[in-house]
Amino acid sequence: MKKFLIAISALTVLGGVAAVPAQASPQEDLKQFRAYYFKKFPGVKLQDYGNGIYALDAARRFEWEEMEEFPPYEEGLEKGEKLFMKLGIAKCFPKGGVGIKHDYPYFDNKSGKVRTLEQDINACVVKNGHKKLKWKKGDLPAIGAYMAYTSRGKKQNVIVPNTKAALAAYNDGKTTFYAKRGQLNFACADCHVYNSGMMVRGNLLSAGLGQTSHFPVWRRKWAKGKGGTAGFGTLQRRYGGCNKQVRAKPLKAQSVKYNNLEYFHTFMSNGINLNGPAVRQ
Ligand code: HEC
Repeated sequence: MKKFLIAISALTVLGGVAAVPAQASPQEDLKQFRAYYFKKFPGVKLQDYGNGIYALDAARRFEWEEMEEFPPYEEGLEKGEKLFMKLGIAKCFPKGGVGIKHDYPYFDNKSGKVRTLEQDINACVVKNGHKKLKWKKGDLPAIGAYMAYTSRGKKQNVIVPNTKAALAAYNDGKTTFYAKRGQLNFACADCHVYNSGMMVRGNLLSAGLGQTSHFPVWRRKWAKGKGGTAGFGTLQRRYGGCNKQVRAKPLKAQSVKYNNLEYFHTFMSNGINLNGPAVRQ
Protein backbone atom coordinates (compact mmCIF):
# COMPACT_ATOMS: atom_id res chain seq x y z
CA MET A 1 0.00 0.00 0.00
CA LYS A 2 2.83 2.38 0.79
CA LYS A 3 4.26 1.87 -2.65
CA PHE A 4 0.90 2.71 -4.10
CA LEU A 5 0.89 5.95 -2.10
CA ILE A 6 4.25 6.97 -3.48
CA ALA A 7 3.28 6.01 -7.00
CA ILE A 8 0.06 7.87 -6.73
CA SER A 9 1.76 11.07 -5.62
CA ALA A 10 3.39 11.19 -9.05
CA LEU A 11 0.02 11.69 -10.68
CA THR A 12 -1.30 15.12 -11.43
CA VAL A 13 -4.16 15.93 -9.17
CA LEU A 14 -6.29 18.97 -9.36
CA GLY A 15 -5.73 20.13 -5.79
CA GLY A 16 -8.79 20.45 -3.63
CA VAL A 17 -10.81 21.91 -6.43
CA ALA A 18 -13.65 19.69 -7.47
CA ALA A 19 -13.37 19.35 -11.22
CA VAL A 20 -16.99 18.51 -11.80
CA PRO A 21 -18.06 19.78 -15.19
CA ALA A 22 -20.79 22.37 -15.03
CA GLN A 23 -24.44 21.33 -15.04
CA ALA A 24 -25.22 20.23 -18.54
CA SER A 25 -27.60 17.84 -20.20
CA PRO A 26 -26.53 14.18 -20.29
CA GLN A 27 -26.06 14.50 -24.06
CA GLU A 28 -23.75 17.49 -23.63
CA ASP A 29 -21.82 15.64 -20.93
CA LEU A 30 -21.38 12.67 -23.23
CA LYS A 31 -20.08 14.85 -26.04
CA GLN A 32 -17.53 16.52 -23.76
CA PHE A 33 -16.50 13.25 -22.12
CA ARG A 34 -15.70 11.69 -25.48
CA ALA A 35 -14.05 14.82 -26.84
CA TYR A 36 -11.64 14.87 -23.90
CA TYR A 37 -10.30 11.38 -24.72
CA PHE A 38 -10.33 11.88 -28.47
CA LYS A 39 -8.02 14.83 -27.96
CA LYS A 40 -5.83 13.00 -25.46
CA PHE A 41 -5.50 9.77 -27.48
CA PRO A 42 -5.86 10.87 -31.11
CA GLY A 43 -5.32 7.42 -32.69
CA VAL A 44 -7.87 5.57 -30.56
CA LYS A 45 -11.29 5.02 -32.12
CA LEU A 46 -14.53 5.15 -30.15
CA GLN A 47 -15.17 1.38 -30.32
CA ASP A 48 -11.66 0.63 -29.13
CA TYR A 49 -12.37 2.20 -25.74
CA GLY A 50 -14.41 -0.89 -24.91
CA ASN A 51 -11.08 -2.72 -24.56
CA GLY A 52 -9.92 -0.79 -21.48
CA ILE A 53 -6.17 -0.47 -21.07
CA TYR A 54 -5.64 -2.64 -24.15
CA ALA A 55 -6.89 0.23 -26.28
CA LEU A 56 -3.98 2.31 -25.00
CA ASP A 57 -1.06 -0.13 -24.98
CA ALA A 58 -0.15 -2.24 -28.03
CA ALA A 59 2.17 -4.71 -26.25
CA ARG A 60 -0.34 -5.56 -23.55
CA ARG A 61 -3.06 -5.78 -26.14
CA PHE A 62 -1.17 -8.49 -27.96
CA GLU A 63 -0.92 -10.62 -24.79
CA TRP A 64 -4.56 -10.05 -24.02
CA GLU A 65 -5.76 -10.99 -27.49
CA GLU A 66 -3.86 -14.26 -27.19
CA MET A 67 -5.58 -14.93 -23.89
CA GLU A 68 -9.01 -14.20 -25.34
CA GLU A 69 -8.43 -16.86 -28.01
CA PHE A 70 -8.84 -19.57 -25.35
CA PRO A 71 -10.78 -17.58 -22.80
CA PRO A 72 -10.34 -18.65 -19.19
CA TYR A 73 -13.97 -17.71 -18.52
CA GLU A 74 -15.42 -20.35 -20.87
CA GLU A 75 -16.23 -22.83 -18.11
CA GLY A 76 -17.80 -20.08 -15.97
CA LEU A 77 -19.82 -18.85 -18.92
CA GLU A 78 -21.26 -22.33 -19.46
CA LYS A 79 -22.16 -22.50 -15.80
CA GLY A 80 -23.85 -19.11 -16.18
CA GLU A 81 -25.93 -20.40 -19.06
CA LYS A 82 -26.98 -23.48 -17.07
CA LEU A 83 -27.99 -21.31 -14.12
CA PHE A 84 -29.90 -19.00 -16.45
CA MET A 85 -31.93 -22.02 -17.60
CA LYS A 86 -32.26 -23.69 -14.21
CA LEU A 87 -33.46 -20.57 -12.40
CA GLY A 88 -35.95 -19.67 -15.13
CA ILE A 89 -34.47 -16.25 -15.83
CA ALA A 90 -35.86 -16.06 -19.38
CA LYS A 91 -39.44 -15.77 -18.09
CA CYS A 92 -38.83 -12.44 -16.36
CA PHE A 93 -37.25 -10.53 -19.25
CA PRO A 94 -38.28 -9.25 -22.64
CA LYS A 95 -36.94 -11.37 -25.52
CA GLY A 96 -36.36 -14.21 -23.09
CA GLY A 97 -33.43 -12.29 -21.61
CA VAL A 98 -31.34 -12.71 -24.76
CA GLY A 99 -29.53 -9.70 -26.23
CA ILE A 100 -30.95 -7.10 -23.84
CA LYS A 101 -28.04 -5.99 -21.69
CA HIS A 102 -27.40 -2.82 -23.69
CA ASP A 103 -30.57 -1.29 -22.18
CA TYR A 104 -29.18 -1.57 -18.64
CA PRO A 105 -29.14 0.15 -16.23
CA TYR A 106 -32.44 1.98 -16.69
CA PHE A 107 -34.50 4.45 -14.73
CA ASP A 108 -37.62 2.84 -13.33
CA ASN A 109 -40.36 5.47 -13.14
CA LYS A 110 -42.46 3.40 -10.76
CA SER A 111 -39.91 3.14 -7.97
CA GLY A 112 -38.18 6.39 -8.93
CA LYS A 113 -34.86 4.51 -8.91
CA VAL A 114 -32.20 3.17 -11.21
CA ARG A 115 -32.45 -0.59 -11.84
CA THR A 116 -29.40 -2.67 -12.68
CA LEU A 117 -29.32 -5.99 -14.50
CA GLU A 118 -28.18 -7.65 -11.27
CA GLN A 119 -31.27 -6.38 -9.44
CA ASP A 120 -33.62 -7.64 -12.13
CA ILE A 121 -31.90 -11.05 -12.23
CA ASN A 122 -32.11 -11.42 -8.47
CA ALA A 123 -35.74 -10.26 -8.36
CA CYS A 124 -36.46 -12.97 -10.93
CA VAL A 125 -34.58 -15.61 -8.96
CA VAL A 126 -36.65 -14.82 -5.87
CA LYS A 127 -39.90 -14.63 -7.85
CA ASN A 128 -39.20 -18.10 -9.18
CA GLY A 129 -38.93 -19.40 -5.62
CA HIS A 130 -35.15 -19.67 -5.34
CA LYS A 131 -32.78 -18.18 -2.81
CA LYS A 132 -31.45 -14.69 -3.52
CA LEU A 133 -27.92 -14.74 -4.95
CA LYS A 134 -24.90 -12.84 -3.65
CA TRP A 135 -24.45 -9.54 -5.47
CA LYS A 136 -20.82 -9.30 -6.46
CA LYS A 137 -19.33 -12.71 -7.21
CA GLY A 138 -20.09 -16.28 -8.13
CA ASP A 139 -23.43 -17.30 -9.65
CA LEU A 140 -24.99 -13.86 -10.19
CA PRO A 141 -22.17 -12.39 -12.28
CA ALA A 142 -21.96 -15.74 -14.11
CA ILE A 143 -25.60 -15.38 -15.18
CA GLY A 144 -24.84 -11.74 -16.03
CA ALA A 145 -21.84 -12.87 -18.07
CA TYR A 146 -24.04 -15.21 -20.09
CA MET A 147 -26.54 -12.40 -20.68
CA ALA A 148 -23.69 -10.08 -21.65
CA TYR A 149 -22.42 -12.73 -24.05
CA THR A 150 -25.78 -12.89 -25.83
CA SER A 151 -25.68 -9.09 -26.13
CA ARG A 152 -22.24 -8.82 -27.70
CA GLY A 153 -22.11 -6.33 -30.54
CA LYS A 154 -25.14 -4.34 -29.34
CA LYS A 155 -24.48 -0.67 -28.73
CA GLN A 156 -24.78 0.48 -25.14
CA ASN A 157 -28.01 2.45 -25.03
CA VAL A 158 -28.75 3.85 -21.57
CA ILE A 159 -31.64 6.28 -21.55
CA VAL A 160 -32.03 9.21 -19.18
CA PRO A 161 -35.65 10.33 -19.47
CA ASN A 162 -36.15 14.06 -19.26
CA THR A 163 -37.79 13.94 -15.83
CA LYS A 164 -36.70 15.51 -12.60
CA ALA A 165 -36.20 12.18 -10.84
CA ALA A 166 -34.18 10.55 -13.62
CA LEU A 167 -31.97 13.59 -14.06
CA ALA A 168 -31.41 13.74 -10.30
CA ALA A 169 -30.23 10.10 -10.30
CA TYR A 170 -27.95 10.79 -13.26
CA ASN A 171 -26.49 13.92 -11.64
CA ASP A 172 -25.96 12.11 -8.36
CA GLY A 173 -23.93 9.48 -10.21
CA LYS A 174 -21.97 12.18 -11.98
CA THR A 175 -21.18 13.91 -8.69
CA THR A 176 -19.91 10.61 -7.26
CA PHE A 177 -17.67 10.08 -10.28
CA TYR A 178 -16.03 13.48 -9.82
CA ALA A 179 -16.01 13.55 -6.00
CA LYS A 180 -12.74 13.13 -4.12
CA ARG A 181 -12.77 10.34 -1.60
CA GLY A 182 -10.67 8.26 0.74
CA GLN A 183 -7.54 9.09 2.67
CA LEU A 184 -5.78 9.64 -0.61
CA ASN A 185 -8.46 12.06 -1.74
CA PHE A 186 -8.86 10.76 -5.29
CA ALA A 187 -11.90 10.88 -7.50
CA CYS A 188 -12.72 8.26 -10.14
CA ALA A 189 -12.08 11.08 -12.59
CA ASP A 190 -8.60 11.79 -11.19
CA CYS A 191 -7.46 8.32 -12.22
CA HIS A 192 -9.68 7.47 -15.17
CA VAL A 193 -10.04 10.90 -16.81
CA TYR A 194 -7.19 13.27 -15.95
CA ASN A 195 -4.53 10.56 -15.50
CA SER A 196 -5.82 7.96 -17.94
CA GLY A 197 -2.93 6.49 -19.93
CA MET A 198 -0.52 7.04 -17.00
CA MET A 199 1.06 4.32 -14.89
CA VAL A 200 0.46 3.69 -11.20
CA ARG A 201 2.53 0.91 -9.68
CA GLY A 202 2.76 -1.12 -12.84
CA ASN A 203 -0.90 -0.49 -13.66
CA LEU A 204 -1.86 1.51 -16.69
CA LEU A 205 -4.94 3.62 -15.97
CA SER A 206 -7.75 2.98 -18.41
CA ALA A 207 -10.02 5.66 -19.80
CA GLY A 208 -13.40 6.10 -18.13
CA LEU A 209 -14.91 5.99 -21.60
CA GLY A 210 -15.89 2.41 -22.48
CA GLN A 211 -15.18 1.06 -19.00
CA THR A 212 -18.59 -0.52 -18.63
CA SER A 213 -18.86 -2.32 -21.98
CA HIS A 214 -17.28 -5.60 -21.02
CA PHE A 215 -18.73 -6.39 -17.60
CA PRO A 216 -19.03 -8.69 -15.81
CA VAL A 217 -15.30 -9.30 -16.18
CA TRP A 218 -13.23 -12.37 -15.45
CA ARG A 219 -10.13 -11.43 -13.49
CA ARG A 220 -7.12 -13.58 -12.80
CA LYS A 221 -6.85 -11.83 -9.46
CA TRP A 222 -10.37 -12.88 -8.52
CA ALA A 223 -10.14 -16.43 -9.88
CA LYS A 224 -7.05 -17.24 -7.76
CA GLY A 225 -6.46 -20.30 -9.92
CA LYS A 226 -9.94 -21.68 -9.26
CA GLY A 227 -12.25 -22.68 -12.09
CA GLY A 228 -16.00 -22.34 -12.57
CA THR A 229 -17.51 -18.96 -11.80
CA ALA A 230 -14.71 -17.90 -9.42
CA GLY A 231 -13.12 -15.25 -11.64
CA PHE A 232 -16.28 -13.31 -12.39
CA GLY A 233 -17.20 -10.01 -10.80
CA THR A 234 -19.72 -7.28 -11.43
CA LEU A 235 -19.01 -3.67 -12.24
CA GLN A 236 -19.87 -2.74 -8.68
CA ARG A 237 -17.41 -5.27 -7.30
CA ARG A 238 -14.82 -3.35 -9.28
CA TYR A 239 -16.06 -0.02 -7.90
CA GLY A 240 -15.42 -1.42 -4.43
CA GLY A 241 -11.85 -2.35 -5.37
CA CYS A 242 -11.16 1.10 -6.77
CA ASN A 243 -12.57 2.73 -3.64
CA LYS A 244 -10.26 0.59 -1.49
CA GLN A 245 -7.24 1.64 -3.54
CA VAL A 246 -7.67 5.18 -2.30
CA ARG A 247 -8.42 3.95 1.23
CA ALA A 248 -12.08 4.76 1.05
CA LYS A 249 -14.71 2.44 2.43
CA PRO A 250 -16.55 0.85 -0.48
CA LEU A 251 -20.29 1.45 -0.60
CA LYS A 252 -22.74 -1.42 -0.51
CA ALA A 253 -23.21 -3.21 -3.82
CA GLN A 254 -26.56 -2.24 -5.37
CA SER A 255 -26.96 0.75 -3.05
CA VAL A 256 -28.64 3.81 -4.54
CA LYS A 257 -25.29 5.64 -4.73
CA TYR A 258 -23.51 2.88 -6.65
CA ASN A 259 -26.52 2.35 -8.90
CA ASN A 260 -26.58 6.05 -9.74
CA LEU A 261 -22.84 5.93 -10.38
CA GLU A 262 -23.37 2.96 -12.67
CA TYR A 263 -26.12 4.89 -14.45
CA PHE A 264 -23.91 7.90 -15.19
CA HIS A 265 -20.82 5.79 -15.90
CA THR A 266 -22.64 3.51 -18.35
CA PHE A 267 -24.40 6.40 -20.05
CA MET A 268 -20.94 7.83 -20.82
CA SER A 269 -20.25 4.65 -22.83
CA ASN A 270 -23.40 4.88 -24.92
CA GLY A 271 -22.71 3.98 -28.53
CA ILE A 272 -19.92 1.57 -27.64
CA ASN A 273 -20.52 -2.09 -28.51
CA LEU A 274 -20.94 -4.52 -25.66
CA ASN A 275 -18.09 -7.06 -25.60
CA GLY A 276 -18.41 -8.83 -22.29
CA PRO A 277 -17.46 -10.89 -20.56
CA ALA A 278 -13.80 -9.98 -20.98
CA VAL A 279 -10.57 -11.00 -19.32
CA ARG A 280 -8.80 -8.52 -17.11
CA GLN A 281 -5.74 -8.75 -14.88
C1 HEC B 1 -6.06 5.74 -7.59
C2 HEC B 1 -6.55 5.53 -8.91
C3 HEC B 1 -7.96 5.01 -9.10
C4 HEC B 1 -9.13 5.56 -8.68
C5 HEC B 1 -9.32 6.80 -7.83
C6 HEC B 1 -10.18 4.76 -9.26
N1 HEC B 1 -9.65 3.75 -9.99
FE1 HEC B 1 -10.67 2.47 -11.18
N2 HEC B 1 -8.94 1.50 -11.63
C7 HEC B 1 -7.69 1.86 -11.20
C8 HEC B 1 -6.71 0.90 -11.69
C9 HEC B 1 -5.21 0.95 -11.43
C10 HEC B 1 -7.44 -0.04 -12.44
C11 HEC B 1 -6.88 -1.27 -13.21
C12 HEC B 1 -6.33 -0.77 -14.55
C13 HEC B 1 -7.43 -0.26 -15.44
O1 HEC B 1 -8.16 -1.07 -16.03
O2 HEC B 1 -7.62 0.98 -15.47
C14 HEC B 1 -8.84 0.38 -12.39
C15 HEC B 1 -9.86 -0.28 -13.05
C16 HEC B 1 -11.17 0.16 -13.09
C17 HEC B 1 -12.20 -0.47 -13.86
C18 HEC B 1 -12.06 -1.71 -14.73
C19 HEC B 1 -11.68 -1.34 -16.13
C20 HEC B 1 -11.70 -2.51 -17.07
O3 HEC B 1 -11.31 -2.35 -18.24
O4 HEC B 1 -12.15 -3.59 -16.71
C21 HEC B 1 -13.35 0.26 -13.66
C22 HEC B 1 -14.71 -0.01 -14.26
C23 HEC B 1 -13.01 1.34 -12.75
N3 HEC B 1 -11.68 1.26 -12.44
C24 HEC B 1 -13.89 2.30 -12.31
C25 HEC B 1 -13.60 3.24 -11.31
C26 HEC B 1 -14.59 4.09 -10.71
C27 HEC B 1 -16.05 4.19 -11.09
C28 HEC B 1 -13.93 4.82 -9.76
C29 HEC B 1 -14.52 5.76 -8.74
C30 HEC B 1 -15.45 5.17 -7.79
C31 HEC B 1 -12.53 4.43 -9.82
N4 HEC B 1 -12.37 3.47 -10.76
C32 HEC B 1 -11.52 5.00 -9.07
C33 HEC B 1 -7.37 2.98 -10.45
C34 HEC B 1 -8.30 3.84 -9.90
